[in-house]
Amino acid sequence: MIRIDNVSKSFGGLQAVRGVSFEVAQGSITGLIGPNGAGKSSLFNIVAGLFPPSSGRVLLDGQDITGLPPHKLFHRGLVRTFQIPHEFSRMTVRENLMVVPPGQSGENLFKTWLRWGKVKQQDSEVLDRVDDVLKFLEITHVADELAGNLSGGQKKLLDLGRTMMTDAKMVLLDEPGAGVNRTLLGKIREAILRLNRERGYTFCVIEHDMDLISALCEPVHVMANGELIASGSMETLRQNEEVREAYLGGGASGRMGEETPRQNSTDEGASS
Ligand SMILES: Nc1ncnc2c1ncn2[C@@H]1O[C@H](COP(=O)(O)OP(=O)(O)O)[C@@H](O)[C@H]1O
Ligand SMILES: [Mg+2]
Repeated sequence: MIRIDNVSKSFGGLQAVRGVSFEVAQGSITGLIGPNGAGKSSLFNIVAGLFPPSSGRVLLDGQDITGLPPHKLFHRGLVRTFQIPHEFSRMTVRENLMVVPPGQSGENLFKTWLRWGKVKQQDSEVLDRVDDVLKFLEITHVADELAGNLSGGQKKLLDLGRTMMTDAKMVLLDEPGAGVNRTLLGKIREAILRLNRERGYTFCVIEHDMDLISALCEPVHVMANGELIASGSMETLRQNEEVREAYLGGGASGRMGEETPRQNSTDEGASS
């Protein structure tokens, strides 16, 4: 589905990504891991069209999409999770879902607001879809809460919900588990799995939580110092000497297979 072909990216003198190639197969939940500074987000940003690579190509279903901006990729069914824009924290969860434009990316705030006027009059198709998303993600009980009152985990679920309001079937997730408590992490994991199995979504996931990666992803690709150093299942990667060294060299923040401390159960946010 996505083919990353010998992609490199330099920022000034710094080579953040060096000749990386791998594929994200249709129907897979492909993982991308590596210590901090490995170049994972840079690679994601290249695939998502935020900036072009210095060299190399990105193909989507065999077509060259290198350097296409996010809204063009969106039309071809590729999105990355939206960070909830600050501007929408004073809208409810339901409203945040309603304003996701089906035909373009959410980056154009002005157009989104124009659409908001239209959406308010309503469009039962949009409302049905919103209800479906709320139910699917089990966040119906916070539908009328302001998005700004949600916990970190609930915001991540809303992020996923916003991608579900589009017709995109290829979704890039950058650290869906970051700052999320155990309970909500389980929900996010289930939502990703069910979107994959029941609704045909393909995912490429960057994540530091190895439990989440193990539970979801096959294959997993490992980057270190801008390079792809290994690929395979988490079981085989755990045994891989080069991978272990990359993590140990990367400092305590990215140790493999060790529990990262997680905040307890303060992540309830608006639980109604
Ligand atoms: N926009 C940028 N400008 C300059 N350097 C950047 C930029 N984005 C990332 N980098 C650098 O590229 C390297 C890889 O970063 P990043 O892709 O964020 O790694 P990861 O997501 O794996 O932690 C880092 O050294 C980082 O400082
Ligand atoms: Mg990153």
